[in-house]
Amino acid sequence: MSDKKIAPSLLAADFANLQSDIEMVNESQADWFHIDIMDGVFVPNISYGMPVLKAITKHTKKFVDVHLMIVDPDRYIQTFADLGSNMLTVHYEACTHLHRSLQSIKNAGMKAGVALNPHTNVNLLKDVIQDIDMVCLMSVNPGFGGQHFIENTYDKITELKALIDAKQTSTLIEVDGGVTDKNAEKLVKTGADVLVAGSFVFKSENPKNTISELKNSINR
Ligand code: DX5
Ligand code: ZN
Repeated sequence: MSDKKIAPSLLAADFANLQSDIEMVNESQADWFHIDIMDGVFVPNISYGMPVLKAITKHTKKFVDVHLMIVDPDRYIQTFADLGSNMLTVHYEACTHLHRSLQSIKNAGMKAGVALNPHTNVNLLKDVIQDIDMVCLMSVNPGFGGQHFIENTYDKITELKALIDAKQTSTLIEVDGGVTDKNAEKLVKTGADVLVAGSFVFKSENPKNTISELKNSINR
């Protein structure tokens, strides 16, 4: 059985009713929670911070995948571990000493992820891929939910998969941004392991069903 994962992004949830949206994800076929932290500096938007994450992880019963869209993420690695993050993803573009950041994340007991903006070439990870548990390919420019998927992402998945195979690492490939039922199957066929979906899930009529349909479509 294939185990391609769905990670609903709470950015598109109803913040006034976060607990019920979290419980819906707990009961759904989703694999992970995807949590987007934005600082208004690395990206032109501010999402939510530590107190909200603390409230979220009080209720989550699944793997918590935290995507940091912030400058100088090293400042907060231990804090995000203490708040219950299982995977901590930092942006390549925000880390001067990426290798050190990855070691700090692992030393704090989390899996280590690296996100790449749409313009960042995957081969820049060649010398550090063996230290990365997951690469998050941004398929939109980070900062907002509900944007259109960038088609060049398929080529990046293919290149990244070749790099992972060449180095024989077990790095997962996550795709984040603009994921819908129109591109999910092709993304996993191309090599993606984890699909993040925000608006497509939470703006649908029945989010729990939408998660099931997405999950089934990528594991056939
Ligand atoms: C964008 C975030 C995404 C976002 C995805 O900066 O990293 O995780 O929530 O939302 P959709 O699925 O609506 O593109
Ligand atoms: Zn994200």
